[in-house]
Amino acid sequence: ALVTLKEALAQAEAGGYAVPAINVHSLEVLPAVLQVAAEERSPVILQFTEGTLKFCGYDNVRVLAGHLARVTPVPVVLHQDHGASYEVAVRAIQAGFSSVMIDASHLPLEENIAATRKVVELAHACGVSVEAELGRVPGQEEEVVVSEAEATYTDPAEAARFVAETGVDALAVAVGTVHGFYKWEPKLAHDRIAAIREAVRIPLVLHGGSGVPDAEVQRAIQLGIRKVNVSTEGKYAWAQALRQSLADQPGEFDPRPLLTPALKAVQEVVRAKIRMVGSHGKA
Ligand code: 13P
Ligand code: ZN
Ligand code: NA
Repeated sequence: ALVTLKEALAQAEAGGYAVPAINVHSLEVLPAVLQVAAEERSPVILQFTEGTLKFCGYDNVRVLAGHLARVTPVPVVLHQDHGASYEVAVRAIQAGFSSVMIDASHLPLEENIAATRKVVELAHACGVSVEAELGRVPGQEEEVVVSEAEATYTDPAEAARFVAETGVDALAVAVGTVHGFYKWEPKLAHDRIAAIREAVRIPLVLHGGSGVPDAEVQRAIQLGIRKVNVSTEGKYAWAQALRQSLADQPGEFDPRPLLTPALKAVQEVVRAKIRMVGSHGKA
């Protein structure tokens, strides 16, 4: 069933778990991810960047993802990831999404508040949830590139003001994760998560979930993280399995036997993340 981010995260808050937010990059991955969520009885967030929406076609995503979300027997959120502007949010809402992210975290606080509030007014009028970001998560997520020097942790007092003035439904925080894989063993700033949690009452979102040790993420969930974003691990598993499949079947040119192992590899990443964040059996 298609649900809003607000609904899915309220359930997670009540149950003390997090919902996995899986970035999908191509259309055939959609049913593969939803199949695992249904098997695991887990709510799931399917998230699409603007780049993915353009690659797949907005209208194709509207029809296929909308249909699959509705017929899947667990809660499914269709979420726009890292929206760069109001226009991106408009297009996602027109494509039938139940949630959008406006990422104006590179702007000064006042401007981030103004940009976010504008999207909240539109989205809420359409029954759509909004995630926004405060602080800056380093690394690269498609067009969003943040250097180590530019990275800043979320300030709890600013977070309280940001949430009060924007009315967002979920807040993405910068607490030590990095978009993409890590060059070193990541350590999350758990005390910072606890301090933000004290300051704001809405569910918190952990970006950069790939490559973070399970125990670090699980501790963050105990402290109030309710959405865990995973993109790179799924992509990487898909590409590695496809390379292997091409090498194993040198004479094959039918996409089906070549792609099946790649889809299975993505499914195993999703299954492991569902169990890690504790959302299995919750739907
Ligand atoms: P990773 O690529 O590190 O999993 O980050 C995903 C993300 O935050 C998507 O918004
Ligand atoms: Zn992100
Ligand atoms: Na990461």
